[in-house]
Amino acid sequence: MRTVALIRFFLGKGGVGKTTTAAAYSINKALQGKQVLVVSLDPAHNLGDVFEEELGDDPVKIMDNLVAIEVDYDKMIRKHLKDLTEKIKDIYGYLKIFNLDRYVDVLKHSPGIEEQASLEKIIEIIRKYGVGDKAFDIIVFDTPPTGLTLRIMALPTISLIWIERLIKLRLAILERRKTISSITGEQFEVEITGKRLKVPISVKEDPIFKELTKLRDEYNWINQHLTDPHTTAAIMVINPETLPVLEAYRAVEFLKRINVPVTHLIVNKIFELKTIPDQLRPKLEEQEKALALAREKLPGLEVIMIPYLEKEPRGPDMLKKVAEYLSTIP
Ligand SMILES: Nc1ncnc2c1ncn2[C@@H]1O[C@H](COP(=O)(O)OP(=O)(O)OP(=O)(O)O)[C@@H](O)[C@H]1O
Ligand SMILES: [Mg+2]
Repeated sequence: MRTVALIRFFLGKGGVGKTTTAAAYSINKALQGKQVLVVSLDPAHNLGDVFEEELGDDPVKIMDNLVAIEVDYDKMIRKHLKDLTEKIKDIYGYLKIFNLDRYVDVLKHSPGIEEQASLEKIIEIIRKYGVGDKAFDIIVFDTPPTGLTLRIMALPTISLIWIERLIKLRLAILERRKTISSITGEQFEVEITGKRLKVPISVKEDPIFKELTKLRDEYNWINQHLTDPHTTAAIMVINPETLPVLEAYRAVEFLKRINVPVTHLIVNKIFELKTIPDQLRPKLEEQEKALALAREKLPGLEVIMIPYLEKEPRGPDMLKKVAEYLSTIP
């Protein structure tokens, strides 16, 4: 029995076919008998439209072996802020003089809150559905367009740099307090707006130190998952056009730097025409150029070509057509 799910991220520029290929891949694996969970992390969901099913925050069965989730972004951010507020109140509860509610209200609009909440959701999903004896075999993430996704994936690496520094700083503060306390022979106290407050002097009793180390462990855990080539694969989706290729190139370079394994390149919506109308000749020349650019800029990835289908691939039957192209992705 597998105890760690394989994780698959479908990434790419807006509109290239991330949701379609993530859905089709999930069907392919479910048909092979794998237990699959597919999760849409895109605030502008369309996974439900692609499956032709009403989806939400709880898993909905699509077919045998396959369930899907559309993450509720509003709920996720509300929960993130609520958890954060409680944490702040727990830790800084003694600072009743400050208006914490107003501080939290400001947090709601602070940069990075969406990325932070998304990462926490990914951690929650992997913890809940990706490890242990009830784990799915595969968890597929359909992602928002590239920029936001990359910021989410880089967050553990970037946060860990900060957290390590904050831990060192906190240790230094506690050390100083301890020294002063041993000289005076009294519990260390500070004066805030005229009130004298007792504050922790050891790592054991310091809630901030505890919170920092908990966060460090959590981010190390998710980073190990996201960078483990046995578990995780990012799959780039592009169209045979210059801009998606260039964006994919930059994304792959970035993912390399944060050690997230990128394995496949799906070139979706390729025009394959038996006879070529004159009006489409420039378009097809552009396609050839983009394919050459993709070969040059994105070497080393396994390439999968999917033609432009005669109909939008929606619903299980059309998705099965797309799924056939994706069987080589493990
Ligand atoms: N191979 C294909 N042939 C024809 N139409 C396709 C193909 N792949 C995807 N489409 C269509 O292209 C549109 C965009 O696809 P999709 O929604 O999967 O892209 P996306 O990358 O998830 O977009 P977004 O960035 O908005 O989430 C949809 O209308 C979809 O049905
Ligand atoms: Mg999509």
